Amino acid sequence: MAFSTTAKKASRGMLLPVIAISVLSFVQCASKHSVTTSATASNPDKGLKDYYKDYFPVGVAVSMASLHGPDSALIVKEFNSVTPENDMKMGPIHPSENVYNWKNADAIVDFAVSHHIKIRGHNLCWHNQEAAWMFKGSNGEPVTKELLLQRLKDHIFAVAGRYKGKIYAWDVVNEAVDDSDDTTQVYRKSNWYKICNGPDFIDSAFKYAHEADPNAKLYYNDYNSEHPVKREKIYKLLKKLIEDHAPIDGVGMQAHWKLNDPSPDELRKALDEVTSLGLKVQFTEMDITIRLPKPNPAPGTTPAVAGATPTPDQGYTPEVEVKQVAQYKMAFDIIRQYKKFITNVTFWNVSDRASWLDGRGGGIMGGAAAGVNTPRVVIKAYPLLFDENRQRKKAYIAVVNF
Ligand code: XIL
Repeated sequence: MAFSTTAKKASRGMLLPVIAISVLSFVQCASKHSVTTSATASNPDKGLKDYYKDYFPVGVAVSMASLHGPDSALIVKEFNSVTPENDMKMGPIHPSENVYNWKNADAIVDFAVSHHIKIRGHNLCWHNQEAAWMFKGSNGEPVTKELLLQRLKDHIFAVAGRYKGKIYAWDVVNEAVDDSDDTTQVYRKSNWYKICNGPDFIDSAFKYAHEADPNAKLYYNDYNSEHPVKREKIYKLLKKLIEDHAPIDGVGMQAHWKLNDPSPDELRKALDEVTSLGLKVQFTEMDITIRLPKPNPAPGTTPAVAGATPTPDQGYTPEVEVKQVAQYKMAFDIIRQYKKFITNVTFWNVSDRASWLDGRGGGIMGGAAAGVNTPRVVIKAYPLLFDENRQRKKAYIAVVNF
C-alpha cells in the first residue's frame, strides 16, 4: 500500500466535501439544463478507452449479435476490453461430457484479437448456467467430490488452456457467497458447495486456472459487494483464499447498481477492504438501473399477486436521468481515485437498446415473462451510457469530463 490508512482517511476527509459539492452542483446544473444540455459535450474522435487510457481498460459484455451489425463499430470505437456475456459459461460451452461448443467463444476471441482488444474470460465455475451433467454419475446418482473436482479441472484446463495467452483475466469463481443477512452463512449452498461439502472447490478452481494459464490474472467475482453484510462475507472468503495461498489476483465487483445504491461511503469501504488484502479490483458488469426496488408483497399475498400491482412505468424521465447521471459521476469520481488498484471497468451490454435487465423480473418489473392474463409491464432499465439509438447519454458526458 503506498499510503497509510491515516493518510488515506485524512485525504478522504478533505475530499468528501469537495465531491459532495461538485455532485450537488452537477445535479442542480443538470436538472436546470436537463432539456438543453447537449450530448455533444464529448469529443467524437475519442472513445471511453481514450478518456481512460491513463487509468484502466474500459470493457463491454458482448454476444455474437453485438459483433455483427451496428454495435460492432461502437465497440471498437469506445472499448478496449470485452467479456463474452454468455458464450464461455460452463453450460453453453461444455453442455455434456465430451462436447465443447467453441464456435461463439472462438469468434469473440478472434474479433477481439483482430481489433487489439483485451479479453476477460467469464467464467469458470458458477451455480447458474451450469453444466448439469457434471453433478451426476452415469446412473443419475450424485457424483463424488473427487469426480466433481476432476471434472472441474478438466473443464478449466480445456477452456482456460484453449485461450491461454489471449485471455488476460478470468472470473474463476462467480457468486459463491450467500445472499442472506445471516452472517454465519458465508457460502452459497450451491451444487458445488453441497457435493464438495464445503468451499474447497473455490481454492481448487483457482489452482486449476493458474495451472492452465499461469499468466492470466485470476478474479473472484460477485454482486452487491458493497452491501455491508455481503461485503463482510466476501472478505471472509477472500481472506481464506489468501491464507490457503490460492493464486488469486483480485476481486470482480459486478457493479449492477441502482440510482442510490451503492452510497459513496459503501463504495469506498468495499474498495478499502479488498485492497487492504493486497488484491486488485475490476468492476466487471457495470450498469445502473433506473428501476425502483421491488415492492414487498402485502402480507398474506403471494409474490405473484403482489406482482399484479406493478411499480409504475416511470420511463426515462428527466428526474431519473439526473439521478442516474449523478450516480455514474459519483462512482467514476471514486473509481478514478483508486486507479492504482483498479485494472478494468466493464459495462454489461452495449446500449439501452438491449440490456439483460430488460428481460428480467416477469410481469412486475418488466421483461418477457408476463403471461396471457398478466399485463406485460415493460419497465426498461436504461442502465448504460449509450441510449437506444446508441448515442452517448448525459451519463457518458459525466464520466468522461474530469
Ligand atoms: C447474464 C446474461 O447477461 C444474460 O444474457 C443471461 O441470460 C444470464 O446471465 N451476473 C453474471 C453474469 O455474472 O454472467 C450474468 O449475465 C448477469 C449477472
